[in-house]
Amino acid sequence: MASRRARTLRLAALRGLGLLALATLATTANAQAELRHARDNYLLHCSGCHQPDARGKPSAGIPDMRETVPLLLATPAGRAFLIQVPGTSASALSDAEIAGLMNWLMPALTGRHDVPAFSTEEVSRYRRQPLDDVSAHRAEILGGGSTATPDQTARASPGTM
Ligand code: HEC
Repeated sequence: MASRRARTLRLAALRGLGLLALATLATTANAQAELRHARDNYLLHCSGCHQPDARGKPSAGIPDMRETVPLLLATPAGRAFLIQVPGTSASALSDAEIAGLMNWLMPALTGRHDVPAFSTEEVSRYRRQPLDDVSAHRAEILGGGSTATPDQTARASPGTM
């Protein structure tokens, strides 16, 4: 009797572990689907100007984000600018989709995984604070630089993009 109960308990525990493993797999699959969705959104809504590898076209006023995003991430105003900039804030994407896109784009661009994630709330807050003069504000944050950074086409693109 006791041993049957023990066996039942053991079976229940094993079943529990199996469910846990399944749940973990499902979470990983969800995370991967979200990353794919973010990348697709970038390709669909942003890469027309910024290029698939984010090098932009500085000679045409599209900044090389591989150069500028690490600088922008260094200050709170710069972090807000990533969302306030018209390309992001006026896109057809929802706040949640922008947060997801950014949370994929930041590590892909910078190779850093310590950038605090953008939440949907943070995105909506910045999105409700549009900029009067985008280039003046940008120049202020980046220390007086012009819109375009020098074209550095020789650089390799980030492997994760
Ligand atoms: C029509 C072209 C265009 C599209 C589409 C576009 N952008 Fe931009 N983006 C720009 C330009 C030009 C700038 C430079 C600032 C400015 O003048 O708006 C910029 C700047 C940025 C910056 C700040 C980097 C810097 O150096 O200023 C980020 C971040 C950014 N865009 C993200 C996005 C994202 C994310 C999308 C897609 C949801 C997107 N952009 C779509 C043209 C575009």
